[in-house]
Amino acid sequence: MAGGGGGAAECREHLFKVLVIGELGVGKTSIIKRYVHQLFSQHYRATIGVDFALKVLHWDSKTLVRLQLWDIAGQERFGNMTRVYYKEAVGAFVVFDVTRGSTFEAVSKWKHDLDSKVLLPNGSPIPAVLLANKCDQKKDNGQTPSQMDQFCREGGFVGWFETSAKDNINIDEAARFLVENILANYRSFPNEDNDVSKLKLDPDPLKAESKSQCC
Ligand code: GTP
Ligand code: MG
Repeated sequence: MAGGGGGAAECREHLFKVLVIGELGVGKTSIIKRYVHQLFSQHYRATIGVDFALKVLHWDSKTLVRLQLWDIAGQERFGNMTRVYYKEAVGAFVVFDVTRGSTFEAVSKWKHDLDSKVLLPNGSPIPAVLLANKCDQKKDNGQTPSQMDQFCREGGFVGWFETSAKDNINIDEAARFLVENILANYRSFPNEDNDVSKLKLDPDPLKAESKSQCC
């Protein structure tokens, strides 16, 4: 039976808005396509503005999590629209391309842009996970794992993963990790801003949807 919330007292349902940001061509759309549809294409078509996808996770026997993924075009960097797109997000992936060092250098700018435009209801930054994408290719960012750990600590990332949308490496793991962090915040500060009923989308842009079943 679809839908939920009201009837089964022990069934909890969450809708979380998650942003996917980073420079042009780092693989944001590819990561989302892989995660939601198990598809990958070598063909590059730049995202214009923002795109949406929905992933439904049967988190445990009592919890259903809907992730509303906002795929923000790399070319939106520092544009005025990011303030609008970031609104009410509760988590983010910041993506760079390990084959292009310049995309790693831009990570901090994206993170600052994020933290200056959206905060959790309690005033803390939203949890952000750093994704070192295209790890199936030769690296060019010159960071060792321990340097990456330090970069994350200093930059306020909750963690980082090497990912490949092409070879399906670590994408599910990174998403699970982000959701764990979002749920931890939600449990500490259950607030109406995280309420399913408050986070609404125009149904039209919901192009990609995986099948849902109520727990
Ligand atoms: P914008 O929409 O312009 O911001 O780019 P994007 O970040 O959405 O990048 P997109 O997903 O469109 O990918 C850009 C190019 O990188 C495409 O040609 C993809 O096929 C390729 N690509 C993405 N992820 C991977 C990966 O993990 N490995 C490899 N080898 N190529 C990838
Ligand atoms: Mg894109």
